Amino acid sequence: MDAFDYRNGSLYAEDVPVADIVHTHGSPCYIYSRATLERHWHAFDAALAGRPHRVCYAVKANSNLALLNCLARLGSGFDIVSGGELARVLAAGGDPAKVVFSGVAKTAAEMRQALEAGIHCFNVESLSELERLAEVAADVDIPAPVSLRVNPDVDAGTHPYISTGLKENKFGIDIGEAEAIYRDIAGHRHLRVIGIDCHIGSQLTRTEPFIDALRRVLALVDRLAADGIVLEHLDLGGGLGIRYRDETPPEPAEYVAPLLAELGDRALEILIEPGRAIAGNAGILVTRVEYLKRTEAHNFAIVDAGMNDLIRPSLYSAWQEIIPVRPRQDTESRCYDIVGPVCETGDFLGKARELALTAGDLLAVRSAGAYGFTMSSNYNSRPRPPEIMVDGDRIHLIRPREAIEDLYRGETLLPED
Ligand code: LLP
Repeated sequence: MDAFDYRNGSLYAEDVPVADIVHTHGSPCYIYSRATLERHWHAFDAALAGRPHRVCYAVKANSNLALLNCLARLGSGFDIVSGGELARVLAAGGDPAKVVFSGVAKTAAEMRQALEAGIHCFNVESLSELERLAEVAADVDIPAPVSLRVNPDVDAGTHPYISTGLKENKFGIDIGEAEAIYRDIAGHRHLRVIGIDCHIGSQLTRTEPFIDALRRVLALVDRLAADGIVLEHLDLGGGLGIRYRDETPPEPAEYVAPLLAELGDRALEILIEPGRAIAGNAGILVTRVEYLKRTEAHNFAIVDAGMNDLIRPSLYSAWQEIIPVRPRQDTESRCYDIVGPVCETGDFLGKARELALTAGDLLAVRSAGAYGFTMSSNYNSRPRPPEIMVDGDRIHLIRPREAIEDLYRGETLLPED
């Protein structure tokens, strides 16, 4: 259940009619529910209560400052993958000491920025990254807190584009090679080894791959401990899936319980990096039907949001539920392809959806709070939609719609001659 429900035949976001928000802020628009967001965060935090832990929300899922600020106020940590995300966390009032920095291509400038900000640790993904980090740390004279992201070679059973824990993926350090690296860097002057990390993929709907990965990581942790290399934390990454259609992912507590059982009484702080499971079902994308168009092959509902606003259906063939803001009984339902304005055949939000529609109707694409706005673009010179956070009966515009001039700000013409 989330906070987007019908009351008297009209879709609400918490206590606000969605149609009222569109009346004020126009279509298309992203709408988030603060209560849902916070409930999801608390579910992870509560699942880990009773042992030292930190929920590090994965900023890439949704990086709006207001959303980050809501989580920072709850005491959340953050998983970042760029200097830009670090700047967002800081601007949103996040505590740098609760930040972990993942990603395969950290630049020297980003390392410096993160060291100076005082982040909790770097999740290092290769030997060459480790060498660079040691150089930068020496240069700024701040020892770098390090956790190796190991690649445990497990099949997460998810879409190949969002699977990350297989040997053939670019992520992490082969778990077989990690032990020697830990030994090499223990006692290093500029590197402070504090943890171990793994993230095997996203939208996982079963717990077994997480348990598989954890067993392999724990075997390494134990071997290291026997050699006197005692780690302070274990980061299990993110990846818990959500229900888009008929998936039945475990609840945070059901996901965490078997992991804690595997951990036993090892004195490790547990970090997790959920993104989608916190933000995904806390948001919708609202769009208006511009035209209905019948062809021999299809009924098209052409809407004012496209793949530039929400790319998941086009990129991953992802299925997201599309529902009417005001369901109507006065016209018959048909099977529609919901397509956008972008000049690409792959520009669709949903295919073969049974809906009763008239031009001008509003539709809501559900589960759009994660990897929605953050993956949006200005393709076809389309200004990106506004983002709105609902809090009970209050509506906060947390990012205005882009203006046309925003699209070419900073661009210049060539000189006359
Ligand atoms: N930690 C690391 C190191 C990650 O790479 C990711 C996601 C997360 C945490 C958060 O994973 P989550 O809990 O959200 O599953 N754009 C794709 C998803 C890409 C995920 C990339 N990494 C989509 O829309 O499905």
